[in-house]
Amino acid sequence: MADTVYQRCINPDCSATFAVEQTNFLCSRCGSLLDVAYDWNRFAPPKSLRDFEAKWADRADPLNLSGVWRFRELMPFAPSDKIMTIGEGQTILQKADAVAKYVGLEAGKLFLQYEGLNPSGSFKDNGMTAAFTHARLAGARRAACASTGNTSASLAVFCSATGLMRAVIFIGSGKISYGKLAQALDHGALTVQIAGDFDDAMERVQNLGNVSAFGKAFMELEELGLLKRLPRLAVINAAGANTFYQLYEKQGLRWHGGRPDRQLADRYFDRLDAEKLRASTIASAIEINRPVNLPKALRAMDRCGGVVREATDQEILDAKAKVGAGGLGCEPASAASVAGARKLRQEGVIAPSDRVVCILTGHQLKDPNATVAYHSTDQKTFDDVLGQRGVRRATYANRAVQVPNDLDEIIKTIELYS
Ligand code: F0G
Repeated sequence: MADTVYQRCINPDCSATFAVEQTNFLCSRCGSLLDVAYDWNRFAPPKSLRDFEAKWADRADPLNLSGVWRFRELMPFAPSDKIMTIGEGQTILQKADAVAKYVGLEAGKLFLQYEGLNPSGSFKDNGMTAAFTHARLAGARRAACASTGNTSASLAVFCSATGLMRAVIFIGSGKISYGKLAQALDHGALTVQIAGDFDDAMERVQNLGNVSAFGKAFMELEELGLLKRLPRLAVINAAGANTFYQLYEKQGLRWHGGRPDRQLADRYFDRLDAEKLRASTIASAIEINRPVNLPKALRAMDRCGGVVREATDQEILDAKAKVGAGGLGCEPASAASVAGARKLRQEGVIAPSDRVVCILTGHQLKDPNATVAYHSTDQKTFDDVLGQRGVRRATYANRAVQVPNDLDEIIKTIELYS
């Protein structure tokens, strides 16, 4: 397989190739990131995306059940008997008219991709099944990651469900929501809490992974003739962790045919260091200032007419409440997508008749603290969790009603409020 599947440096001035089993994710020649690349002439990928849909019918085969490996002809880097799947990717694309109204779109135009339905409750399982399979190919006995919580939860689930490797996870102290910490502990991961935040916990981490992965997938689908028109991509940062917004929208950092202005990014990071600026947002999953996948994200933005916006914690929590009230719950980081779509709609970048998909990356129960504080009647709870982050109002709060333990009072209350 070595010559039909390989890793390739994304720097067009280098393009060095490496064996797919190799575990480095940086090019040993120039230090750029690597892609997994395929010699498509050696494979016969399906002619139409419809061919993949047919596989849904065959739920008995775990590889067809997986929403990732159903597409295995498009990522043929591992033999079928080496693939590690736990049923990831069986998520739903749900039309959400109530949320469409909030965003400012016509009915029927907004869809929520509900990644919370994954086994570990976030979209991370999609990447983890590929990473875990790769680790197995490389003969790994331990699997480690630094995480704001979801990647570590996913890794812990994969390790415990397969029994193949020991999970070692690094998290910043006090920076992980209880739902996610509970998962790591419950699934038996060796959990190492580092004094500091996520950027300290690991200098190099695959963030901006979503947009990089979408970009790569769209580019390959286009190359194979399976997609005629690429969708536009919007990345929504939290305003308190807005590196990509600053670099892309404010400072004009671009892919430039594979030669982005590295100094521009370096200067930005130097300033973060000099001024000791730390990421800070209620959306703890995306409380990160140093996205390592930055070059890949720039490439994706270039190909997909990308835009970046930032959303404040207030906007994120209001959007999250609307998502929850509309039927599908999500954690704060996921609601940034809806808050961003609303902003882009108000700016006219998105038209009311455009079709929009917001990815709800993580499950509502991942971070109940933020949700309970938002809906709380108790001002102290609100202030402790949200007030200090600049959240002033719970605009769409659904507050619990206090009732004496008396049947008549209870009935009266129900009649009054419903
Ligand atoms: N949404 C959620 C729920 C996440 O957990 C993350 C990242 C993101 C969005 C952003 O992902 O940058 O790849 O597009 N969580 C990582 C983690 C960092 O450690 O679980 P992106």
